[in-house]
Amino acid sequence: MSLVSRSCTPFLGQKPGTSGLRKKTRVFMEPGYLESFVQSIFNAIGSAKGKAFVIGGDGRYFNAEAIQEILRMAAANGADRAIIGQNGLLSTPAASNLIRKRGADGGFILSASHNPGGIDADFGLKFNGANGGPASESLTEKFYTHSQNLSEYTTLDADDIDLSRVGVSELEGMVVEVVDPVADYAALMREIFDFNRIRALLADGFTLSFDAMHAVTGPYATAILEDELGAPKGSVLNAVPSVDFGKGHPDPNPIWAKPLVDLVMSPDGPDFAAASDGDGDRNMILGKGIYVTPSDSLAVLAANAHLVPGYGKGLAGVARSMPTSAAVDRVAERLGLDCYETPTGWKFFGNLLDAGRITLCGEESAGTGSDHVREKDGLWAVLLWLNILAERRISVREIMQDHWQTYGRNYYSRHDYEAVDSTKAEQMITDLANRLPQLPGSEAGNLVIATADQFFYEDPVDGSESKNQGIRIVFESGSRGVIRLSGTGTDNATIRLYLEQFTPSEGALHMETQTALVGVAEAMSLITRLHDICDRPAPDVVT
Ligand code: G1P
Ligand code: ZN
Repeated sequence: MSLVSRSCTPFLGQKPGTSGLRKKTRVFMEPGYLESFVQSIFNAIGSAKGKAFVIGGDGRYFNAEAIQEILRMAAANGADRAIIGQNGLLSTPAASNLIRKRGADGGFILSASHNPGGIDADFGLKFNGANGGPASESLTEKFYTHSQNLSEYTTLDADDIDLSRVGVSELEGMVVEVVDPVADYAALMREIFDFNRIRALLADGFTLSFDAMHAVTGPYATAILEDELGAPKGSVLNAVPSVDFGKGHPDPNPIWAKPLVDLVMSPDGPDFAAASDGDGDRNMILGKGIYVTPSDSLAVLAANAHLVPGYGKGLAGVARSMPTSAAVDRVAERLGLDCYETPTGWKFFGNLLDAGRITLCGEESAGTGSDHVREKDGLWAVLLWLNILAERRISVREIMQDHWQTYGRNYYSRHDYEAVDSTKAEQMITDLANRLPQLPGSEAGNLVIATADQFFYEDPVDGSESKNQGIRIVFESGSRGVIRLSGTGTDNATIRLYLEQFTPSEGALHMETQTALVGVAEAMSLITRLHDICDRPAPDVVT
């Protein structure tokens, strides 16, 4: 075994986005590509010497090979200890938990989240800090700067480590600890939730289906929902992780998890259904005959969390990303809680959680979480719903109806335009940004524009500023349209248009969502000129 330094060209990748660096798998497999990024991370955090890192991923194609290389590089760069999930598996929230629980200096999470996996699909790598959360904007910036000036990386000439067996070994002075990926996470869930109550609910005949989408939550959901809580065998669907997620798209939304949605909409479907994504941080919640939007889910969880032991003392505050609907704001107002509006991306919640300002947070993109880790957490959200259902003993539909009757309803939908010509997409945004000052007071379709701005965020904890985080158009009717470019797409530009229409509790609470949003959709089309500029008559994905 020997230490080697290999030269590399400066790393010309794009800036890591809100969720680390995502690229086509073949790009990550190019000699020196992964290595350059990993070395830049070590350099940016002031060396790996004496440090402990958690390493794991969602099991997608190249996961195992990448982990072996990161292990060699960590050892060569003088790391003290590496803690790895068995077979290289760790869900993102489980990795966050391990970093915190073991007092590690950080963690490497290998995933492209909900993007497909395979040699011709996507791969990703992100670095989380000692608090268990995604690297801050400034640290991410540092990775990039270091990568641009990198001329060599240091690794080992060494054989692969056996990751299939739990246990401790050694690699060039670095302790290599392979751990059960589920055990510590399950222990944390047991601390937060009343497992006995959920067990009783299931024993009384309440049925559930959880779709792991051939991704990382399979082993977690099987161990917790079936083995520990007593859901019948087979309640967890697609439970075995595969490198290409069964050739599917591990994105828990009504498009990609359609079989599950069809199941729960059928007369003999389960009482409750849920799905998670590639790396286990997202969730989709359904009840018999009803889909719960992520924005509504956050609001319901905020309103009911006190029923669960881990949140029995109430919430410190709540936060949502700017494009997420304001449903949770209404709950916060009634409960007298602080409510923060952050830019898109989980990392903005980290400071608020660390400072104890919030307990619950979430995004419209199927991410919900709390202060138990520093990532969104899919299975945790499912258990929170189940614990609430076990306490209230009413159906998901009844919970939603009761919620809307109490707080009013924020009809909400996101329209995605994928693989749009980047130049056109950017032109559309720039053009709109230039027109923003003239918009207030003018009419668009049947609506009158009240305010129009670019979202700017000043972190209330550290004062850091984030500019141009999406364009917001608020109408006098109380509806809202938001438009921004995705920071995670790998194929040209993805435009996200977010539509919201509030109806008070005495209004029409049971309309079809897209029907309720026709007015705001039309107004946003006129204001943004999106369809003309980008040659796109209609969205590719509506959620
Ligand atoms: C998307 C979601 C965002 C989420 C991120 C990472 O980012 O919209 O809420 O935090 O994935 O899962 P986007 O592609 O919109 O930049
Ligand atoms: Zn994810």
